[in-house]
Amino acid sequence: MLDFLLVLLVAYFAYLGTMMLYFELKTRGDNYFSLPLAERRNLRAKIQKHARFIYPFFALVSKAFRLRKFPVIRYRGVTGPLMMSSKKSYKFTYNYQPQSNDIFIATQMKCGTTWMQQIVFEVLHRGKGDLSDEGYRHMYALSPWIETTPTSSVPFERAKLVGEKNSRIIKTHMPASLCPHSDKAKYIYVTRHPVSCFASCFDFFHLLVGPLAPDRDEMIKWFCSEDMLWGSWPTHVEGWWRRAEEHNNVLFVHYESMKKDLPGAVRKVADFLEMDLSAEEIDQVVHRSSFEYMKEHEEHFSMFSPNIFSESLKSVRFMQAGTLERYKDVSDTGSQFIMDFCRERLKGGHYPLETFYPDSKSLPVHDDQVERVEMSNVL
Ligand code: A3P
Repeated sequence: MLDFLLVLLVAYFAYLGTMMLYFELKTRGDNYFSLPLAERRNLRAKIQKHARFIYPFFALVSKAFRLRKFPVIRYRGVTGPLMMSSKKSYKFTYNYQPQSNDIFIATQMKCGTTWMQQIVFEVLHRGKGDLSDEGYRHMYALSPWIETTPTSSVPFERAKLVGEKNSRIIKTHMPASLCPHSDKAKYIYVTRHPVSCFASCFDFFHLLVGPLAPDRDEMIKWFCSEDMLWGSWPTHVEGWWRRAEEHNNVLFVHYESMKKDLPGAVRKVADFLEMDLSAEEIDQVVHRSSFEYMKEHEEHFSMFSPNIFSESLKSVRFMQAGTLERYKDVSDTGSQFIMDFCRERLKGGHYPLETFYPDSKSLPVHDDQVERVEMSNVL
């Protein structure tokens, strides 16, 4: 009987290991993103089928063990996710010489990267961007995530040049200190209320590692430290704010401004990219960048490929909330801790936290703020 149980156990672990490896290889970067939609759906269905047998094992493990933070690599003091990046990929990014057709979309994670990628993509295509099987298929089949290629997007050297200007839409979460600057390229930095950013990160980590994700308290501690992936929110924002102060080819955008006035944000991006769009074309870009449209077409935008955990969790999605009230998902104590940390870190810095995000609760970004910072490259 014992022998039989042992054989069963060994067989289960062999099955679990094989399937995890198989799915990992099948869904790595372009192997997944460049597939036609039907094949992506098939793969997801297969993962869902096996998730029923694999997920319970991790749920059991999580009773005894949960991560305190993500396993990371470190390059010049900045962390990156171990499964997706390496010192080599970070070094490649650091040494990259930006070209005149490069458009960098830089953010700390979960601040609206994909949203801005879609706005830029649609602006460059005058509202007629094609992510169908006949077109680019998936945002990550065209837009390289520079510091993670080739694991999490099309490899950088195979990135498609898009639109009438043959632009390369590059995603990065690199802090300004590791993102190469050139006056020839264009940079759009997007940030979001730090508490909302945290709430979005918290859900997102469950999509990546399911029940093994750190609990809320551990996650807050990690978020409020420089060990956080790509560094802490205030360090990230401060670095890019200084870049925007120094260089006009950096557009600094607040997620909340896009939320409040999407047509205005689209016009600002179009001007910045020197694209002269008609009112109709602007309307079309706005339509295709709305939360509703992007949620409906999430299969073309989701920035991670499916895994056992994401396909088991029904209550969390990539396009989870997309609201101005996201901060409400964090407790008062948690919000206060995050805001205190940001205030402390930004003391003596240049980024005017009190102007944009005065507290953890009130609706951020008031209408008269852009004038108050006196920079035309801020939204
Ligand atoms: P939530 O988790 O609050 O839903 P990123 O692309 O940097 O990973 O950011 C993801 C966050 O941006 C998610 O936030 C997602 O819903 C939100 N988002 C994506 N597209 C959006 C849109 N068109 N409008 C508003 N929010 C959007």
